[in-house]
Amino acid sequence: MDLAPLSPFRQDAALTVLGLESSCDETAAAVLRRSATGEITILSDLILGQTAAHAPYGGVVPEIAARAHAEAMSGLVEQALAEAGLGLAEIDGIAATAGPGLIGGVMAALMTAKGLALGSGKPLIAVNHLEGHALSPRLSEQLDFPYLLLLVSGGHTQLISVEGFGDYRRLGSTLDDAAGEAFDKTAKVMGLGFPGGPALERCAASGNAKRFDLPMPLKGRPGCDFSFAGLKTAARQIWDALPAPGEQDRADLSASVQRAIARALASRSKRAMQDFSARHDGLTRPLPFVVAGGVAANQEVRSALSKTASEEGFRLIAPPMRWCTDNAAMIALAGLEHLIRGEVDGLDAKARARWPLDATSAKLDPAIGSGRKGPKA
Ligand code: KG4
Ligand code: ZN
Repeated sequence: MDLAPLSPFRQDAALTVLGLESSCDETAAAVLRRSATGEITILSDLILGQTAAHAPYGGVVPEIAARAHAEAMSGLVEQALAEAGLGLAEIDGIAATAGPGLIGGVMAALMTAKGLALGSGKPLIAVNHLEGHALSPRLSEQLDFPYLLLLVSGGHTQLISVEGFGDYRRLGSTLDDAAGEAFDKTAKVMGLGFPGGPALERCAASGNAKRFDLPMPLKGRPGCDFSFAGLKTAARQIWDALPAPGEQDRADLSASVQRAIARALASRSKRAMQDFSARHDGLTRPLPFVVAGGVAANQEVRSALSKTASEEGFRLIAPPMRWCTDNAAMIALAGLEHLIRGEVDGLDAKARARWPLDATSAKLDPAIGSGRKGPKA
């Protein structure tokens, strides 16, 4: 059954949206209100992590994640509505991540949203998780379009030029692993525990980053794409070749890997900044460069990006971690923007493991959908 088509809401009407997220290992529900004058208020914003459930396996196990999302989602929705002091009748639309992500997980949010939409007669909005990330800096500050965004997490590594709502240009993305994966997998090899990124950063603090020489990914290759698989393999080979690796070896390799990842992120971001800068030469400097995703918590990554930004006439904007890692407020925000424009979905909306944000790049790039760039795009 399809929901009735919706005519666009008036731009000056107040709107309240419930957002749901479950595409990786965070179950989240949030209620967002946009006032008649366009001000955004977060009425509730709940996130339930699953770190303990995945820790014994050293990484996110899709089946465990899917089950945990399914178990937690409806309770979390109830709690989000209760905290907002609202019933479903007072919600104008129900937004859920419909991809990209771990398909079993994505289905938890999308199916719950469909059920709620069907039961309440409210419109459903199937949101692209990457669009949520792209808009997320606007949850915490008054940020005008356009801006350049580096999304760097356990699932994604992408440079996106956010030109306006619905107008996203992907300048580069990873050809293999995401940067967070490279942190996590290297940490796992060295027995640092899960999640590996923060553990590796702590360990790197007492290490010598110059001790091990790691390859610069895609050295000499033009463009803004990333690759971290070679780096990860090189780190593992170094570790395996150490006769009796101890604490100092662990610290030195952590520091070397961290520096290599930070440098790779900064060098590709530099090119993206030059591209963005050339296309927007009329804009006031410094230009906005937003970094989002869990890896943005890493201080060495931040300082490398901040240095590059100032060299290129940009200012680094790092939103609070709560909104730059996976959350439902950003999904509600993207949903709200679609709802204003009357862009709603039928109950046949599909959960998608892959869903590139930038349809043009996806069409031009034959790799999308059939392999290399697919899973991370
Ligand atoms: O955005 P996020 O919370 O979830 C998704 O992947 O969607 O990002 C998690 C990733 C993990 O790979 C984690 O190891 C990494 O971000 N991370 C870090 C740090 N904190 C989190 N990587 C390096 N240094 C950190 N301090
Ligand atoms: Zn994410």
